[in-house]
Amino acid sequence: MAKTQKMYACAECGASYRKWQGKCDDCDQWNTIVEEKAAVSGAPKGLSAKKGQRIDLVSLDEPVAQAPRILVGIDELDRALGGGLVPGSAILIGGDPGIGKSTVLLQAMGALALKGEDCVYISGEEATAQVQMRAKRLGLANAPLKLGCETSLRNILSTLDEGKPPKAVVIDSIQTLFADHVESAPGTVSQVRVCAHELISYAKRRGTVVILVGHVTKDGQIAGPRVLEHMVDTVLYFEGDRGHQFRILRAVKNRFGGTDEIGVFEMTGSGLNQVTNPSALFLADHNAREPGSAVFAGIEGSRPVLVEIQALVARSSAANPRRAVVGWDSGRLAMVLAVLDARAGLGLAGCDVYLNVAGGLKVSEPAADMAVAAALISSLSQIPLPEETVVFGEISLSGDVRSVSQTEARLKESAKLGFTRAMMPKAKKTVSTAIEENCLARVTDLVAHFFPDGVE
Ligand code: TYD
Ligand code: MG
Repeated sequence: MAKTQKMYACAECGASYRKWQGKCDDCDQWNTIVEEKAAVSGAPKGLSAKKGQRIDLVSLDEPVAQAPRILVGIDELDRALGGGLVPGSAILIGGDPGIGKSTVLLQAMGALALKGEDCVYISGEEATAQVQMRAKRLGLANAPLKLGCETSLRNILSTLDEGKPPKAVVIDSIQTLFADHVESAPGTVSQVRVCAHELISYAKRRGTVVILVGHVTKDGQIAGPRVLEHMVDTVLYFEGDRGHQFRILRAVKNRFGGTDEIGVFEMTGSGLNQVTNPSALFLADHNAREPGSAVFAGIEGSRPVLVEIQALVARSSAANPRRAVVGWDSGRLAMVLAVLDARAGLGLAGCDVYLNVAGGLKVSEPAADMAVAAALISSLSQIPLPEETVVFGEISLSGDVRSVSQTEARLKESAKLGFTRAMMPKAKKTVSTAIEENCLARVTDLVAHFFPDGVE
């Protein structure tokens, strides 16, 4: 008989432990470690007991029959996927509950079904009538999509294994499934792992694209999507806060394409609409005459995106002034503040600093350093940046402005949106655009724009 032994696993990252502890050593989260039952049947046997089958080994250039990628027809989704779905691949879509995962996948499967592809949508969370109602709202009531509402992995796999395999299957969500040969409750690390493993092997075996939905969870009882990241081929995260209608689908892992590629959507009353020109959207409410605002010419994946960076600097009497950041790394902000203090003597250490990337986008490029610095100095000096100006460049600890990649793409996008000037590092090779290049070598050159007579 199978003997069960107590095991503990982190619901956030999946690390396993022999004993319970308050904090996970791997991901540094508190209270995420929960008990898992691990089935151990007697002493582990050596592999030599039984001979395995011989596998075929091929050379790298040997032609192997490969089905072409399937384009969904929603450009922003295809872009985030690195150019459509790869047959036989497993994709994980993570995101906060209510962000729009079910909506985008129903739209994607509906679009594929309307193109004549055989697609299946399995919902473990909603009843048939609820999904049908949503489909009606999305204008997909007539799409020949096969819908199933089920949570038992055994039933799902038996259904999928019948007849010709479908082109794509959506499992919404992996945390609701349960495999009856695993003792723990649905949503626990071992259930989620076993279910995902079985579905991924189905994908490889039958050449079906399997798309798994994973909710990002806040409490430790339910395993989060990070537990599965290493098992799947592609990981997409849906970002954006619910206060904004913009949603960003970001590829964080892709075995078949580039990462950091983003797809931008807007949530409307009739589903998610694609945003083909995100820069125009992020800059819609931009007011260039306000101090504390700078337009950053950034690159997201393979395309340039212009966003507004807003800063507010206020003198503080507190011993530990407040630092609040939305959409950027707080460690990076601390670095820029320290460089501005040490190299240009701005005295920001005694100020409260608030920084916000407009529109709900998360910026991770070091090239945003200069735009952040410009917004901070502009807020401190109460002088707006020159009109129609974009800013980009990385700041080093020594106070130098370092060059960044894809200068030409950044300048071209800026010109397209009506900007005429750029505060930027010295480009390695000259590019000809309509933009007047204002090359800066050090952060002190940027400070001199706002304080021409020196910082008092
Ligand atoms: P949903 O796709 O159910 O989120 P998830 O699967 O990630 O949990 O999205 C739910 C939200 O989207 C909900 O708050 C309502 C909103 N929504 C719209 O605004 N318009 C629509 O057409 C649909 C279908 C949903
Ligand atoms: Mg959902």
